Amino acid sequence: MPLGTGRAPGKVILFGEHAVVYGRPALAVPVSQVWAEAHVEALSSTNELTIWAQDLGEKISLSDAPADHPLASAVRLTLGCLGIVNPPAWQVCVHSTIPIASGLGSGAAVSAAIVRAVASAASQELPLRTVSDLVYEVDRLHHGTPSGVDNTVVAYEQPVYFVRGQPPQPFTIGRPFLLAIADSGIASPTRIAVGDVRRRWTESPERYEAVFDRIAAVVEAAHRAIAVGEAAALGPLMDVNHQLLVELGVSCEELDRLAAAARDAGAGGAKLSGGGRGGNLIALVTDRTAAPVESALRQAGALNVIVTRVDHGLA
Ligand code: MEV
Repeated sequence: MPLGTGRAPGKVILFGEHAVVYGRPALAVPVSQVWAEAHVEALSSTNELTIWAQDLGEKISLSDAPADHPLASAVRLTLGCLGIVNPPAWQVCVHSTIPIASGLGSGAAVSAAIVRAVASAASQELPLRTVSDLVYEVDRLHHGTPSGVDNTVVAYEQPVYFVRGQPPQPFTIGRPFLLAIADSGIASPTRIAVGDVRRRWTESPERYEAVFDRIAAVVEAAHRAIAVGEAAALGPLMDVNHQLLVELGVSCEELDRLAAAARDAGAGGAKLSGGGRGGNLIALVTDRTAAPVESALRQAGALNVIVTRVDHGLA
């Protein structure tokens, strides 16, 4: 029996990535088909806390791990928050089905699973806000200026209208809708794309602020359409958002090809989701178009495609 367990879903950003780093709103939803989990076991052979990252085949000793090691940081920050000064002789085992660097929030979900498992091993349950804050601290190691959207969605496990620095607002979904999520197979660390956008913004702030404003207008329109159940209106908004992300320089040939293939096969619209330059593309589908869009995405090079229902709770 493990001493404690924790789990967290993946996420997709529906609208507003990148602009959200600059104070504009974003809409994001959890995705339950992919998840990270952690469990804590008592160790009798050693008195050192170790982390076993199963997918990476890596065993990390907490005392030897560098200060910025993301998994070790999640453990250290949680122990600190719980007031545990001396790390217990635990093994924290981590496993995730979320592709790394794909825009599905793998880093945030792994951190959230660790935070929950360590807290539960200490017989404590942390408030969602605290889980979210701890994951944010770890995310800052992955990329220096996270907006906070990823940690919020994986911690709260709800669709969220998010503005940096404001309490997350869960949003109403008037009528559930379907998304095809296609993995381009290109690993693309968020911090690289975020850093490139920052460089461009520093060089021409007015130009990029104007793009962020146009993205914000798309997010607001999408927020209204989702609330009143007009899913079909989301397709054209996704296309506009994708084009604005192209203008920010965060798309790539493969993502543009997947978007075109999805639209040609009957998707209502398509856009990259997350940091871009690779990672995932999302396409608006219906019960009728889901299968042809999925097969078109695979033919256009998608490594994997998930069709998911966006609903009030987990997608
Ligand atoms: C990454 O999932 C989303 C970005 O907007 C970065 C962030 O919000 O921190 C690209």
